Amino acid sequence: MDCDLQPYEYQVGGHSKTDGQPASLKDNQGRFLKRLQAGERGDREVAFYAAIEQHRQQVDPAATEGGSSSSSSSSADPGQSAAAGSADDDDDAQAAGIMQRLAQWVPKSFGVRQVCGTPYLVLEDLTGQYRQPCILDVKLGFRTWYPWASDSLQQKYRAKDESTTQASLGFRVCGVMGAAGSSGQAWRADRHWGKTLTADTVGEAFTRFADNGVLSLADLLLGRGMLLDQLQALADLAAVQDCWHMYSSSLLVVYEGSAATAAEARLATRLIDFAHTFPTAKASKLLHKQQQQQQQPVIRIDAKEEQAALSADGPCGVDENFAAGLRSLIQVLQQTLDQQQQGQQH
Ligand SMILES: Nc1ncnc2c1ncn2[C@@H]1O[C@H](COP(=O)(O)OP(=O)(O)O)[C@@H](O)[C@H]1O
Ligand SMILES: [Mg+2]
Repeated sequence: MDCDLQPYEYQVGGHSKTDGQPASLKDNQGRFLKRLQAGERGDREVAFYAAIEQHRQQVDPAATEGGSSSSSSSSADPGQSAAAGSADDDDDAQAAGIMQRLAQWVPKSFGVRQVCGTPYLVLEDLTGQYRQPCILDVKLGFRTWYPWASDSLQQKYRAKDESTTQASLGFRVCGVMGAAGSSGQAWRADRHWGKTLTADTVGEAFTRFADNGVLSLADLLLGRGMLLDQLQALADLAAVQDCWHMYSSSLLVVYEGSAATAAEARLATRLIDFAHTFPTAKASKLLHKQQQQQQQPVIRIDAKEEQAALSADGPCGVDENFAAGLRSLIQVLQQTLDQQQQGQQH
C-alpha cells in the first residue's frame, strides 16, 4: 500500500472489504478514498462528481453553511453557461445554477487514484474536521430501484425497500456511529441494524444519535444552522432540482461528539453515494455542450444510461422520489421531537 495511505476508521455504511481491498482509505492530506464500484456504477459516480466539481463556485462559507436557503440564488456563472437568449440557453443557464447549488451539498472531489491497481475515488473527508465524529448515513427516497434497471435488480431493490422503512417512510438508516451518551457507551451500528428499524423505532435511533451525554434531539434539530434548518434548505433545492435523479443516495450527517453546546457540534449535512444517480436529458445536454466547448474529453456515462436519460421512461423533471423522501424525514424528525416534548409536559 502507498505510504501516504491509512485505513479509514469512520466508515459507517456501504460496501466492505472485497478481494483484500479495503472499501475506504484516507490519505495524509485529509482526503477520503472510496473504492470505485465495478462497471457502470463506478463510472456513474465518477461522472457525477466530475460534473458537480466543474460547477463548484467559491462561496462565502459563512453565508452557506451546508448550503443554507440564503444560497438559493439560481443565477448561473456567466463564464460557464450560455448567454441568455433562446429557450435552450435558458435551460442551460438554469441547469448550471442547479448544479452550483448542489455542489454546496456534495463533498469536494479530486478524481480517481489507483491504489495497488484498484481505482479509488478521492473525496473531501467529511469527518476530517472532527475530533470525535458522530456520523449517520441515511438513504433517501421511497424507492431505490428505477424502471430502466434490469428486472432482477428491480426485484432485489424493491424487496429491500419493502422490508425496511425505505418504502414506507422514504428513508432508511444505513449506518451510525454515536458518542457515549447517557448510556455511557460509544456505539456503532451497520446497515443490517438499520434494516431492523421500523416506523415505531426509527425515532429512537435519531434520539440516541443526538445524545452525546450533553446534547439532546432538540439541540441537534432546532435552531439556526441545525439539522432541521439544513434539511429544509436541502428540501428547498430538491423541490426544483431537475438535473439528476438520485436513487439510493444518502445523507451523511456529522457532528462533534465532544460538543458541550449546539454551536460546538458543528453539524454538517452532505449528500453521498451516487452509483445510481442519473442525469436528466436537460443536464446531459448541458454537460455535453460544456465538454465540447472546453475541449475536454467527454466524461464517459454508460451508453445504456445515456439512452435511458433521453428516452421517455428515463429520468425527467424534478426528482420527486428524493424530494418526497427528504420531506418525510423532516416530518418524522419533527414528530419525534413533538412526541418527546409532549411526553415531558405530562
Ligand atoms: N466523503 C466522505 N467522507 C467521509 N466519509 C465518507 C465519505 N463518503 C462516504 N463516506 C463513508 O463511507 C460510507 C459508504 O459510502 P457510500 O458512498 O455510501 O458507499 P457505498 O456505495 O458502498 O454505499 C458512508 O456511510 C460513510 O461512512
Ligand atoms: Mg451507501
